[in-house]
This record gives sequence, structure tokens and C-alpha cells, in this order.
Amino acid sequence: MKVTENLKNIEKHFSNLNDLCLPCDTPLEKEKYISDEWLFEQILNGSVHGHPTSTNSVDVIDFDYDLKNELLDEIISLCSNVGGRSRAVSAFYPENGYMGWHTNWNAPGLGILFSWSKAGDGCFKSYNDKTKNFEIYQDEVGWNVKGVYMRDKQQGLNLGNSWHCVDTNCERFSVGFLLSNGGMDVDFCYETLEEFELNETPNGIWI
Ligand SMILES: [Fe+2]
Repeated sequence: MKVTENLKNIEKHFSNLNDLCLPCDTPLEKEKYISDEWLFEQILNGSVHGHPTSTNSVDVIDFDYDLKNELLDEIISLCSNVGGRSRAVSAFYPENGYMGWHTNWNAPGLGILFSWSKAGDGCFKSYNDKTKNFEIYQDEVGWNVKGVYMRDKQQGLNLGNSWHCVDTNCERFSVGFLLSNGGMDVDFCYETLEEFELNETPNGIWI
């Protein structure tokens, strides 16, 4: 299967990426930006962060890495093999990595997310501020796949925003693609998620 090959080839780069990461000296910041308290504060203030306010992760694009083009070609190949339209994320998380709570309202739509975890000591959290429903997905060792539907501001107002954050205590890599054209649903997008035998949760995560 082409996708399995892509993932294997991408995985070969992780030890190199880890060596290129600078140590992060802000563990306290991590606890703050992935906490429920900080999330509730943002919601009370009416802040709907599209991008994370704080993260300890590095986008592949920003690495000064001699095999970067090889890695990017593999990511582009994976994108085309899952019917993706564009690269939404390709981030490497070192130990004590995180991505603070945010909603992606400015990059809405249906996406597919492949995340790799070295030891399974990490998770993806989701929160709907209308239904007040939390969902937590523990990483498994190796590759994990999920779908995500991110709402735009208007959908967020009506149905609740697509808050999410990432917490990991071990090396983690996440690569994701938008399957739909912006916030517009396209029927065949769901076929990709069905091929991976994923089902939708109340928060619009496909697991
Ligand atoms: Fe996000």
C-alpha cells in the first residue's frame, strides 16, 4: 500500500529531526497553554485563536535539514495518495512538546491527520465550547490516523468552536492535509476517512 510506504519513508527522518531540535527551557509555559483553565479563560474573553498562541514544535519547512527536500517530496506523495488538497501541518515535537489550545477557524474544513509517537506518551485533546464536551485521544506507539473537521467562525458560533491542543512527553510528528475545499464539504472527502475505517465523534473528530 502506497500510504504505508510513505509513512515508513517519512519515519526514517525523525531521529535526524530530533537531533536538530534545540532544547526547550519553558516547561511551565507548556502546562499553561494546554490547561483547561487557560482554555476557559480564552472562551470567557471571546478569543477564538485560529493558530496556537504557544507551541514547542517545529514545522518541517523551518528545519535547516539537508534531507528536507526528500522528506517534503514524501509528504507531497502522501498528500496525493490520500486525496489531499493541501498540506495543513507537518510538525515535529521534541520531548515535552506541545501545541496550545486553538481552533483553526482560519483554515476550516475536513482534514486527515497522521501522527507518529515514539513511546505513546502523548495525546490530542478536543473541546466544543457549545456542548462543553472534551475528547482526549491517547497516542499509540508508531503511527496514528484520525480525521478532523475544523469549523470556521460562523459554524463555531452556531455549533461550537473546534478547540484542540496537543501534549506529548516523547518525540512526536504530525502531518495533516485538508481534504475539502476550504470549509466546503465535498462528498468524496469522506471516502478517504471511510477507507481508514474511521467514524465521527460528537466533536467532529474521526477516529
Ligand atoms: Fe490545529
